Amino acid sequence: MTEKMIEAAANAYRNERLTLGESVFKFEEAFAKMCGSKFAISVSSGTAALQLAIQANGIKAGDRVVTSAMSFVASANSYVAFGGLPGFADVSESDFNLDPAKLTGAIDGKTKAVMPVHLYGHPARMDEINDVAKKQRLIVIEDAAQAHGARYKGKVAGNLADAGCFSFYATKNMHVGGDGGMITTNDDKVADLCQRMRHCGRAKGSNYIHDVIGYTYRLGTANAAIGIEQLKMLPEWNEKRRAAAKVYDSKLNGVGDLVIPPQPSKDVTPVYHLYTLRTKKRYELKAFLESKGVGVGLNYEVPIHLQPAYKQMFGFKEGMLPVSEMLCKEVIAIPMFADITSEQINYVVESVKEFYG
Ligand SMILES: Cc1ncc(COP(=O)(O)O)c(C=O)c1O
Repeated sequence: MTEKMIEAAANAYRNERLTLGESVFKFEEAFAKMCGSKFAISVSSGTAALQLAIQANGIKAGDRVVTSAMSFVASANSYVAFGGLPGFADVSESDFNLDPAKLTGAIDGKTKAVMPVHLYGHPARMDEINDVAKKQRLIVIEDAAQAHGARYKGKVAGNLADAGCFSFYATKNMHVGGDGGMITTNDDKVADLCQRMRHCGRAKGSNYIHDVIGYTYRLGTANAAIGIEQLKMLPEWNEKRRAAAKVYDSKLNGVGDLVIPPQPSKDVTPVYHLYTLRTKKRYELKAFLESKGVGVGLNYEVPIHLQPAYKQMFGFKEGMLPVSEMLCKEVIAIPMFADITSEQINYVVESVKEFYG
């Protein structure tokens, strides 16, 4: 949070409505522009964004949504919470994202949508995923919660399918000084429905007439004002993350049993929400790095289908998604943020090397 961001929030508090003030619409306009989408609808969290995008696209209780189990639990919670059925396709080892080759096998008669997750800010293979979905007449919703500004074949994440969903949780590449989320779409009807559903299902222009079942999922005006300032910084911050990742790559490639993250390519410009290594010794490495004062994350230690709530509700078992399960046992994220310094990177690298002797 810079002083400018705090000042923007203060100005919003002084001069605007607390909810649905001018800054909300300005933030949406700027975010839509960044993604190249016709509409952006701000909401109170990434989970809310996913839920509304799914419901506004006609997915109902009893319909299945196929997503990646190697993700934050909210990817599936967003539709299981309203009675949607979780379907999971395995990921590919090369990019940790939905494997288009395994997608068809995960689709059944109840499946109505596919939700690729651009994990760690690395876009999924959207052309192939969209092809499978088109053949099966499925909606595609991008979970772009970790991929603000990431690019795939010249287009920006959030504009690669029927709708895109973002989170502004505090650790994301940009935030809004509290929880928040955004839905992007080019579909007028979906945008209109999302706008009404986030505002308690109010009919357009009315206060107490409700023509759709809705929720209180609005983004606060002061949060939107912060979001406007954060969004201005996003290109520079993403560039800094990519530069830091490049240094990590060059210094950690070949060290011990480490596997460095999926690489950028001519088609894919990632934004390194996380910098995630693979190792068979992650718990030992974690303990060692923590003893040196280096923070690490295990994103994600347990895939969604093996989370206690999912096992209990749906009877999912180990062995269902071998690649996701293997990767979830090996991943470990080391410090990555826009303003990480060369000294900090060197300290992390030297600590990792010391661990491997
Ligand atoms: C992949 C993914 N999907 C969905 C979410 C949910 O976003 P939120 O925490 O804003 O509800 C997050 C982040 O928290 C996420 O990382």
